[in-house]
Amino acid sequence: EQLVGTRTDLQNKKILITAGPTREPIDPVRFISNHSSGKMGYSLAEAAVERGGEVILISGPTSLERPAGLYKYVAVETALEMREQVLKFFPWCDVVIKAAAVADYRPKNYSGRKIKKKDAEMVLELEKNPDILKELGEKKDRQVLVGFAAETNDIQKNALEKLNRKNLDLIVVNDVTVEGAGFGVDTNIVKIIHRNGTIEELPKMPKKEVANAILDRILQYLNYS
Ligand code: CTP
Ligand code: CA
Repeated sequence: EQLVGTRTDLQNKKILITAGPTREPIDPVRFISNHSSGKMGYSLAEAAVERGGEVILISGPTSLERPAGLYKYVAVETALEMREQVLKFFPWCDVVIKAAAVADYRPKNYSGRKIKKKDAEMVLELEKNPDILKELGEKKDRQVLVGFAAETNDIQKNALEKLNRKNLDLIVVNDVTVEGAGFGVDTNIVKIIHRNGTIEELPKMPKKEVANAILDRILQYLNYS
């Protein structure tokens, strides 16, 4: 049994991880976002560093401490900024793990001035953000691509559909309505779905252990692709 931090099975592997939410500004004081804490992505980054990987962490706004030993850390706010950074580093990497919760929409018009309230109701127009992972799925040559899906219903069906639509090798899915699997907590209960249709159901585990389980699966794809 090897000690944590002395494993080297990801040595020389270049791993890009995205984490956290994106933040889509409405005006200088307001934004649209989601409940992602970044814990799963940061746990993955820590575990990959401990196993010898060269890790780039591209992170939306979180309250977490930056993991030690990263090859590079890139802070982003919006989905468009995340896309730009991910595409920039994509040709460099062997593995991409998209744990970030990318906002699907952004306000169509950003107001440089604070929007004042009025007596009437307000309609906020949104436009679609690009699907970063889908773009990577279209571009990939050697890269192992891993997606995440946080679902509330039809878990397996939705996740499989995403795996196929985005041309992924693995998708990690969790039911956010289950206690111990939702946002902000230190544990997760996931299913790992492989591109051949194999479904593995993992028990409730600390996010760091989930991270190592995911990295174990990725290693199989790296060694046999
Ligand atoms: N993703 C992405 N770019 C987006 C939206 C999602 O790269 N604009 C990635 C996420 O990082 C995640 C995976 O795609 O790894 C699945 O995200 P999810 O929100 O579950 O799927 P969507 O395709 O956006 O579908 P929906 O939100 O409608 O369930
Ligand atoms: Ca989405």
